[in-house]
Amino acid sequence: MPIVVSGIRSTGNLHLGNYFGAVKNFIEMQNEHQTFFFIADFHSLTTHPTPSDLHSNVKQVLAEYLACGIDPEKSTIFIQSDVPEIPELYLLLNMNAYLGELERTTSFKDKAREQPENVNAGLLTYPVLMAADIIIHKANLVPVGKDQEQNLEMARTFARRFNRMYNVETFPIPRAYTFEGKDMVKIPGLDGSGKMGKSAGNAIALAESPESIRKKVMRAVTDIGPTETNQKKPDVIQNLFTLLEVVSTPEIVSHFNTAYSNCTIRYGDLKKQLAADIINFTNPIRSRIEDICKDDVYLSRVAKNGAEKARESASKTLEEVRKIIGFRKLY
Ligand code: TRP
Repeated sequence: MPIVVSGIRSTGNLHLGNYFGAVKNFIEMQNEHQTFFFIADFHSLTTHPTPSDLHSNVKQVLAEYLACGIDPEKSTIFIQSDVPEIPELYLLLNMNAYLGELERTTSFKDKAREQPENVNAGLLTYPVLMAADIIIHKANLVPVGKDQEQNLEMARTFARRFNRMYNVETFPIPRAYTFEGKDMVKIPGLDGSGKMGKSAGNAIALAESPESIRKKVMRAVTDIGPTETNQKKPDVIQNLFTLLEVVSTPEIVSHFNTAYSNCTIRYGDLKKQLAADIINFTNPIRSRIEDICKDDVYLSRVAKNGAEKARESASKTLEEVRKIIGFRKLY
């Protein structure tokens, strides 16, 4: 059975774009593959969070993924910093990761530009840590978005390099698992621009209150309305329809499509419906997030079980790696 590993940024506040772009697929993968999902809290240190933010973010993200349907019975869901085998493998891989290739990584160059006052070594070796995350479980597949393709390519390089250096076949070469062609939908933002994104400020969070969702939707950018029958929708309007398609019924979508085509559409009605259906969709998730966040006993059980399962898999690989490299106990 293919092994799937995916790291989750620990900054919390999943939005609709995350849900339909990734989380929904994670939930389906649990049934077909051996899945490892973890919260990448070591990675988040590259931006120097305060200790209390670090902790509350990890808790929030864990609660959000559980609320969406990641099932700790089917998947191994764990927190990266609970698995000390990961930083050890990271150290070992660092010995064969070269300054030149790390400096050339686009994400490093971007970060260095974004935070020139904090170009730390952790940023430089971010792809090495990510490679350790992946290959410590001998993953075959890694679900990644476009922005992570280069990092995955580096993980492939480090896995291949290790195998070649020691003439072994310890690590499978992990492949990208893309949802393209499946029912992956790119969720647009509410501001008429491209993708929904937290940093773009155009996102609707799963944990957001109904009032806030309603306000955001009602404020969404529109135009003066269709002036000719059957005209093509401009992006700002198509975006609202794309959102409607993921949260509403086909009847509702077709009702507004018809209204658009014959120029009788009232954007106020469309937005009211869209807001109501988004709220309908997020309400049960939001209340589960709130319940889980309050349930420290449940969260600690999930985290502990996850850590145990992850360490079992990770320590097997690490032991093998140590032996290959030549570490032998003298006692
Ligand atoms: N770098 C990924 C991101 O920013 C998170 C991540 C860390 C990850 N380790 C990983 C993703 C391992 C996949 C596999 O989204």
